[in-house]
Amino acid sequence: MKPARVLVTGANGQLGSELRQLSPRVDDLDFTFVDVNEMDFLHEDSVRGYFDGKSFDFIVNAAAFTQVDEAESKKDLAFAINARALEVLCDVCQHSRTRLVHISTDYVFDGRGCVPLRESDTPNPQSVYGRSKLEGEQIVLNRLPNAYVLRTSWLYSTFGKNFVKTISRLASERDTLNVVADQVGSPTYARDLADAIIRIMRSVNQGSVDNPGVYHFANEGAASWYDLACAVVRIKSYRCVVQPIRTDEYPVAARRPAYSVLDKRKIRSTFGLEIDNWYDALMRCLAGSTEPHRTLDT
Ligand SMILES: NC(=O)c1ccc[n+]([C@@H]2O[C@H](COP(=O)([O-])OP(=O)(O)OC[C@H]3O[C@@H](n4cnc5c(N)ncnc54)[C@H](OP(=O)(O)O)[C@@H]3O)[C@@H](O)[C@H]2O)c1
Repeated sequence: MKPARVLVTGANGQLGSELRQLSPRVDDLDFTFVDVNEMDFLHEDSVRGYFDGKSFDFIVNAAAFTQVDEAESKKDLAFAINARALEVLCDVCQHSRTRLVHISTDYVFDGRGCVPLRESDTPNPQSVYGRSKLEGEQIVLNRLPNAYVLRTSWLYSTFGKNFVKTISRLASERDTLNVVADQVGSPTYARDLADAIIRIMRSVNQGSVDNPGVYHFANEGAASWYDLACAVVRIKSYRCVVQPIRTDEYPVAARRPAYSVLDKRKIRSTFGLEIDNWYDALMRCLAGSTEPHRTLDT
């Protein structure tokens, strides 16, 4: 069987970099990686022009405007990248019969509940970023009935900027750190998300499972930012003391959900995924392991 051709946008981000690192191990998928230099989501011509003479079986859209606080003052930019560009990408997919795997976020929810969020729960974003991502999802789902929309949360990786890397740096420099303890979510190792995306594309390509729509993927378990910071400090044996604070003691521009743990039953049962616990995944990341929790050929 010929390998399926996969284009990954946002290739230099956390998720894109993890997909790139896993790609040589996957014989049945032939990956191409692009970032803003080759395909700028702010320019329709740049997106359409890239596809001249090229075609793909899948596009994994890992490109996004992800600066949650900055989005509050850069609404047009956030919506242009996270929503308007999806109209163009969907158009390309429709004309070339390409399957889109689009990544979205737990920030589409208001976080007022206290049980893990299911795909069927009603979104109610509280920030510009969340609203722009929700609009992106809706464009994809309206235009492409065969697309996959994967909502994930609290991504970290050895690549790019993220909370885990920031805490590692600060904890190595300081005696104490104050971290918000009243926001609870599902920290997710971007490598495990990359592994799940690959498994889904393989299932679809092999014809074993193909059930498009919205899915939630995150590492198992729940943690606050404070729990996550404590775990980083414990695993790395830093001497820093982490102190819990309330959200209102750490003012930021964008409002975040208080509770956004994602329910993963649908993705587990549909694709037979085994999902690692957040703490074990964090240990793998901080140990610099390049393995997903299972090897890709199991
Ligand atoms: N990070 C999280 O905690 C989190 C949580 C939930 C969901 N998500 C979603 O997961 C996906 C992957 O996130 P991530 O953390 O890997 O993001 P990331 O590290 O910020 O990477 C995003 C990528 O998009 C690129 N990009 C930005 N503007 C672009 C443009 N105009 N045209 C083309 N590409 C552009 C960026 O390029 P430059 O670096 O050159 O700007 C970067 O390579 C996103 O859809 C995000 O919304 C993330």
